[in-house]
Amino acid sequence: MSNEKSFHMSPEEFRRHGHAVVDWIADYQSRVESFPVLSQVKPGEIRAALPANPPAQGEPFDALLKDVDRLILPGVTHWQSPNFFAYFPCNASGAGILGDLLSSGLGVQGMLWSTSPACTELETHVMDWLVAMLGLPEKFLSSNTGGGIIQDTASSAALCALLTARERATNYVSNKKGCDGRLVAYVSTQTHSSLQKAAMIAGIGMDNLRQIEVDQNLAMRPDALARQIEADRSAGLTPFFVCATVGTTSSNAMDPIAALGKVCRQHNLWLHVDAAMSGTAMLCPEFRHLQSGVELADSYNFNPHKWMFTNFDCSCFWVADRKSLIQTLSILPEYLRNQATESGAVIDYRDWHIQLGRRFRSLKLWFVIRHYGVEGLQHHIRQHVQLAQRFAEWVDKDDHFELAATAPLNLVCFRHKAGDSANQTIMDRLNRSGDLFLTHTKLNGKLTLRLCVGQTHTQARHVENAWKRIQEEARVAEGTA
Ligand SMILES: Cc1ncc(COP(=O)(O)O)c(C=O)c1O
Repeated sequence: MSNEKSFHMSPEEFRRHGHAVVDWIADYQSRVESFPVLSQVKPGEIRAALPANPPAQGEPFDALLKDVDRLILPGVTHWQSPNFFAYFPCNASGAGILGDLLSSGLGVQGMLWSTSPACTELETHVMDWLVAMLGLPEKFLSSNTGGGIIQDTASSAALCALLTARERATNYVSNKKGCDGRLVAYVSTQTHSSLQKAAMIAGIGMDNLRQIEVDQNLAMRPDALARQIEADRSAGLTPFFVCATVGTTSSNAMDPIAALGKVCRQHNLWLHVDAAMSGTAMLCPEFRHLQSGVELADSYNFNPHKWMFTNFDCSCFWVADRKSLIQTLSILPEYLRNQATESGAVIDYRDWHIQLGRRFRSLKLWFVIRHYGVEGLQHHIRQHVQLAQRFAEWVDKDDHFELAATAPLNLVCFRHKAGDSANQTIMDRLNRSGDLFLTHTKLNGKLTLRLCVGQTHTQARHVENAWKRIQEEARVAEGTA
């Protein structure tokens, strides 16, 4: 080492502080249940406790860690608490955290194959593994016409699918000249809002995003889709894209992929399947009937960062025809030219998504898959589904509550029969108590509570306690406590 002045952390200091941080995380995991699940701070409280100005001189590392406990933890909503039942999960796990740490340690930026061949090749390999693990069609394999890429989020994946569909429908003219306002895309009234954002960004326009009606199970109606496509065609418009969902956000409704896919084939529309959370269930063959017809999909996405124990962010996106995706997103400025790219023998993932730079995300996914093995992943997913099903039975048998939708997997939508205000009271009191965290939606105009069992460490005792606490708060709302 030279004697030049340096403010950097030496490898020895890094080792020492690194051990302290890993110890801190392990302690956090052991005590996570002792914190209120939903952060109890008021708006502005965290900032008010922070110094107004940055430090002129560096501070000892121990002071930083102490401030995490003192200043940051109170403002954390504990997504990693086994009593987190809100939204959809956003899981971490030991293997995922350590894979992510290694990715940070290597500090690789994998925009091109040549900027770190392992970053690209491990990603391609793991994405091919997952095709078989989830029972997806072989056309998604990199050895076939397709291929997979890890994106940051389902929202970005949907945008890439929409853009590629747009280019395919216009023979790559809209990339050159912009959209002419005639392209029409189709989702259901229950599709995630990321598709609306994608339609805005892709220049399709909200007026040209049709929200198709749903059936009594809140699944998109193929007959209504076909009718709308025909009406749009007759009006001189160009239908080009459908997004079907395996497990909608509100209620976990399952769109009928086979019937929707048939309509898409008849009319030559791109079919994107958004399986953001529920895709993970496809690790278990007994749940794959929920996506039957997936062989008709042009693209597919699921988020290991939701239910598959892989730290945020990690969203797996496949296309059946990689050439159309690459042709849509590829631009080769002089400064990125290199021999490997010119040879055509490598994948440059920068051509498969929006941004240029990319992290080494496949490391954490590889660690998770290797740590758990398929058997371990299946075990925990089955357990979560079983626990949710048991919860649904308790709700169904209780005279004060009702199920608000069928629960095909791990999300239970339910409500107290006394109406919206009672349900709001129950939820607010539960969340304020810090004992658990659940969120709501509106189904058929009624406020509905959602309990999603999917956090990495949620076990029977957590779900049993959630039901006990819900019943206690129900008695308060009824005035019978
Ligand atoms: C069905 C569905 N699609 C898309 C998304 C958006 O996910 P992301 O945050 O990865 O963009 C969600 C989020 O919960 C979702 O439930």
